Amino acid sequence: MEKTDFLIIGSGIAGCTAALVAAEAGLDVTIVTKGPALTEGAATAWAQGGIIYKGESDSPELLTNDIYRAGAEIGHLPAIRHLATLGPQYVEEFLINKLGVQFDRTPNDMLDTTEEGAHSVRRIIHVADLTGKAIEERLAEAVLAKPNVRVVHDATAIDLLTLSHHSERPNDAYEPPTCVGAYIFLQKEGRVETWLARETLLATGGLGQLFLHTTNPKSARGDGIAMAYRAGARLLNLEYIQFHPTALYYGDGERFLISESVRGEGGVLIRRTGQSFMEKYHPLGSLAPRDVVARAIHTEMLENQEPCVYLDITMKDPDWIRRRFPNIYAKCLSVGIDMTKQPIPVVPAAHYSCGGVAVDLEGRTSIQRLRAAGEVSCTGVHGANRLASTSLLEGLVWGIESARSASREILERGRDRYYFPPIEPWRYENEPVDPALIFQDWLTIKYTMWNYVGLIRTTKRMKRARSILRELQTEIEYFYERARLSDDIIGLRNGCQAALAVLFAALENRKSFGAHYRVD
Ligand code: FAD
Ligand code: SIN
Repeated sequence: MEKTDFLIIGSGIAGCTAALVAAEAGLDVTIVTKGPALTEGAATAWAQGGIIYKGESDSPELLTNDIYRAGAEIGHLPAIRHLATLGPQYVEEFLINKLGVQFDRTPNDMLDTTEEGAHSVRRIIHVADLTGKAIEERLAEAVLAKPNVRVVHDATAIDLLTLSHHSERPNDAYEPPTCVGAYIFLQKEGRVETWLARETLLATGGLGQLFLHTTNPKSARGDGIAMAYRAGARLLNLEYIQFHPTALYYGDGERFLISESVRGEGGVLIRRTGQSFMEKYHPLGSLAPRDVVARAIHTEMLENQEPCVYLDITMKDPDWIRRRFPNIYAKCLSVGIDMTKQPIPVVPAAHYSCGGVAVDLEGRTSIQRLRAAGEVSCTGVHGANRLASTSLLEGLVWGIESARSASREILERGRDRYYFPPIEPWRYENEPVDPALIFQDWLTIKYTMWNYVGLIRTTKRMKRARSILRELQTEIEYFYERARLSDDIIGLRNGCQAALAVLFAALENRKSFGAHYRVD
């Protein structure tokens, strides 16, 4: 059995930020991550558009208003104000001054700001179209330099440990729901370690992989949501899945994101015939809120029986395009599209989970000693739809605030005052798992979620999804209980559970708001 003060699961912006802050407060920190390195598998490293800082004549009130309106006016105002007040301050103190992230600058050495949908001023700073990579690399370097942070990579968290579920002392079941760590699967050794922690932070990111088409990395399969659900934590707003309007459409491949900042810099959505269409749907045209643009594209594709629409930025200087969007330019070119000369074919794809594990302003969940930060959490900031470039900021703010409050509580209380129960040892099973089963089950989840719980939802479709996913879950649980453990089988079990959680939230919410759109 291993012991640590602060166990962090996930190494994107939320996990790494929390690790740094807690280490500086003097805690013994352990960060567990699924990939072979801190930067691998985190959506953070894929972020393109940028992070909110502040624009000319900007204010926390203006930002609050933009976030609230983009979220269909059902966001949690105290959380939005918290983000709008602390966010720009932390970007400056933490990312710019402390980590030295080299955001792009104008010729007169001011931070270059860009625009994205539904922002009322230019306030997003960026590193070309590779903002996330620049942030994540600096974060990872800083984490690795801390002697009191242990990094456990190639390691998948299986389940959170709670007093009621895992203590060998039966009377612990009467204690308030409390998390005491996690079971961690070491992928290379095929072994499960029991990690006990004074505080645990879930920072496992999103769940885009539950859908057939997604901009998200492979690791975004809802592990954190599924673990929190099994531990009994409160989940919130999971029906609000944001579909990004513009993912590159080519063959059957992955859905590479074409950043909203391409539209922010003047790109226009057009039909194959060259006609622009967004003005028909919203006064902000191509820069309307994401849910509106994604549904408009969906409608256009259906009405015109086309497999995609197009994003045209050819009106801009080719050299400027290559400098401003080097990553997008290179990707498009690699599939035969020169964006300086021709419009880019685009389709919507699942992009972001606005809901998640319900948390307060300091990342506390409904389970004692368990916090959550970043995309896995639901702070209430996004309401029914997320304003572009708020999620890196949210990961940063809640990463810092969760770590500060966990550190304060651990140090004030005294390390010896924490109760660690004897934990049931892991029971190994040995049945080999047929990869064909895993592959097919994932296809079932992805097609079901895309077709029945996607951009446009009906009760009939969702009820059909419920029967399919419930039956699948029974099958998966049956073979999980006997299976030789692997990251794949853990992920499949979690994917199915997280899909059901999204589906039930969507079925229960009869009103259309933002990204949850019912036509019945
Ligand atoms: P992540 O960065 O996804 O990190 C999650 C971590 O958890 C990973 O290290 C993963 O390996 C690990 N993990 C998962 N499950 C387990 C497990 N069971 N055990 C151990 N480890 C686990 N937002 C913006 O604000 N601006 C942008 O410009 C922007 N662009 C984007 C572009 C793309 C292509 C994508 C996909 C997203 C973009 N977003 C953007 C959204 C933003 O990147 C994410 O919401 C944010 O980075 C999430 O950070 P996180 O720390 O919560 O999770
Ligand atoms: C993008 O660059 O379009 C992504 C921005 C975001 O998801 O916030």
